[in-house]
Amino acid sequence: METKFELTERDYRYLFENASDAMWVHDMEGNLLDGNEAFEKLSGYTLEERAGTNATQLLSDETLALAREVRRKLLKGEELEQPYEQRFVTKDGATRIVKMATSPVIINGEVRGFQHVARDITEEKQLHENMRFYVQQVTRAQEEERKRIARELHDDVSPSLLLLIQHLDTVTSSARPRLPESLVDALEGLRSRAVEALEGLQRCAQDLRPRIIDDLGLVAALEWTAENLAKDYGIDAKAEVVGVERDLPDEVQLLLFRIAQEALTNTRRHAEASGAWVTLEFGEDRTVLTVKDNGKGFELPQRMGDLASVGKLGLAGMQERAQLIRGKLTLQSELGKGTTVTVEVPT
Ligand SMILES: Nc1ncnc2c1ncn2[C@@H]1O[C@H](COP(=O)(O)OP(=O)(O)O)[C@@H](O)[C@H]1O
Ligand SMILES: [Mg+2]
Repeated sequence: METKFELTERDYRYLFENASDAMWVHDMEGNLLDGNEAFEKLSGYTLEERAGTNATQLLSDETLALAREVRRKLLKGEELEQPYEQRFVTKDGATRIVKMATSPVIINGEVRGFQHVARDITEEKQLHENMRFYVQQVTRAQEEERKRIARELHDDVSPSLLLLIQHLDTVTSSARPRLPESLVDALEGLRSRAVEALEGLQRCAQDLRPRIIDDLGLVAALEWTAENLAKDYGIDAKAEVVGVERDLPDEVQLLLFRIAQEALTNTRRHAEASGAWVTLEFGEDRTVLTVKDNGKGFELPQRMGDLASVGKLGLAGMQERAQLIRGKLTLQSELGKGTTVTVEVPT
């Protein structure tokens, strides 16, 4: 059973007054005409003070520019992304971050003012920023730790194993005539075990922190990774530099390398691709890394922010790393065609 009813002016007033989002209206000159209780709470201006308040008092110089832009677009009927983020200066001078939507008030076909709905997201934003900071610290700490472990494997464990192999060699060769055949066999068996262990260890150290990135830099490291992919997995992989190569900060080099490494690992593990292309493009004011494959592609999540929540931690990690260097990561993938990962870093 459907019951139809009409809301009266009073009902609307009630909704307006009691909404948890701040709402207010001002005329073309910015004079406040109305506001609800949530607006009072957000701005610090009471309804009595409201009469003499101008909307521009809520804005600082920088935020005024955005407000003007919103106004201009609305008046011209241009597209405006809503809700948008804005910063407010409250009566006591504090800054609040709000997510707000604005629309023109039209009376008799004429724009007479603007109405706004805003939600205070200051705490949420701060929490988010703290989390980001934390994730960044963890990512950095992880790189440091990897470097330390790789160095230890390289400088301490590897030489000990090498020494062990050399000793085994000396024993087997110098004492050979006096040793029973079975013991020689056993010693040789031990030797090849030790060689295998050493090789495994070196691979592990390389994976943790390829020396090439510290010694020869990003371009060499990308070429090396592509060569390995071709050599070990038969994927036709190439790394290429476009533009005039320029020295990038160490952290940028390392994180771009990590992103390429992860993207190529995905190509190898998931794409069933026959080819992969890595391009590092040095532009005037930006550097762009592209990793592309011709594999089977996959369905991307609706939003990049959803990556971690749907368990795509590798892709989420790439995005995290891109943001650490103020870069922007874009994923493109088409079923049956392939996948492209692009990172654009400002310089
Ligand atoms: N280059 C690619 N080609 C095909 N599928 C891919 C590619 N990269 C990622 N994927 C898909 O996206 C998923 C998530 O990738 P990722 O976050 O790196 O996690 P993981 O590699 O641990 O599975 C993969 O499991 C795979 O299904
Ligand atoms: Mg992965």
